[in-house]
Amino acid sequence: MKVLLSHDAIQGRIREMGRQIAADYAGHELHVVGVLKGACAFMTDLCRAIDIPLTMDYIAVSSYGAATKSSGEVKLVKDLDQGLEGRDLLVVEDIVDTGLTLNYLMNVLRARGPRSLKIAALLSKPSRRLVEIPVDYVGFTIDDLFVVGYGLDYNEKYRNLKDIVVYGSEG
Ligand code: IMP
Ligand code: MG
Repeated sequence: MKVLLSHDAIQGRIREMGRQIAADYAGHELHVVGVLKGACAFMTDLCRAIDIPLTMDYIAVSSYGAATKSSGEVKLVKDLDQGLEGRDLLVVEDIVDTGLTLNYLMNVLRARGPRSLKIAALLSKPSRRLVEIPVDYVGFTIDDLFVVGYGLDYNEKYRNLKDIVVYGSEG
């Protein structure tokens, strides 16, 4: 499959993002929430690139399926371990596609009273967006391609690839 973003390119961009996030949150205690499972690789690399004190937690969601797809309603498969009240929250997601999942998740998290709430996404496909979603830190903006690797899956496969590749492409 064709490499869209090499492991080195991903790591270079994550170092830049980490520096920016560390600067933006200097003097604050950052709480980082990763969305399982796709964001796992990005989450661990990004957090190691953010050189300020931070805490980490994880949430897992799954979509309810085709019937409720347009609502973007998601089921919380695993909730957070820690509360969010008064905290500076950064949500880390693998990719923002239609934006429906993240839109729903942000409403759930906002209701728990964080002091601030920002989003970091490794990838964004703006041409696919159905709902406006403010992504504060974007790794790479990509075209309307289905990609796998570096945490991203197709039917739970390919998450372990080091690069991000275009699913099904030749070469
Ligand atoms: P959204 O609700 O349409 O923004 O969907 C976001 C979720 O769809 C992401 O967290 C991914 O799990 C999945 N997704 C969207 N595009 C891709 C892709 O190109 N490759 C793998 N997963 C994707
Ligand atoms: Mg996913």
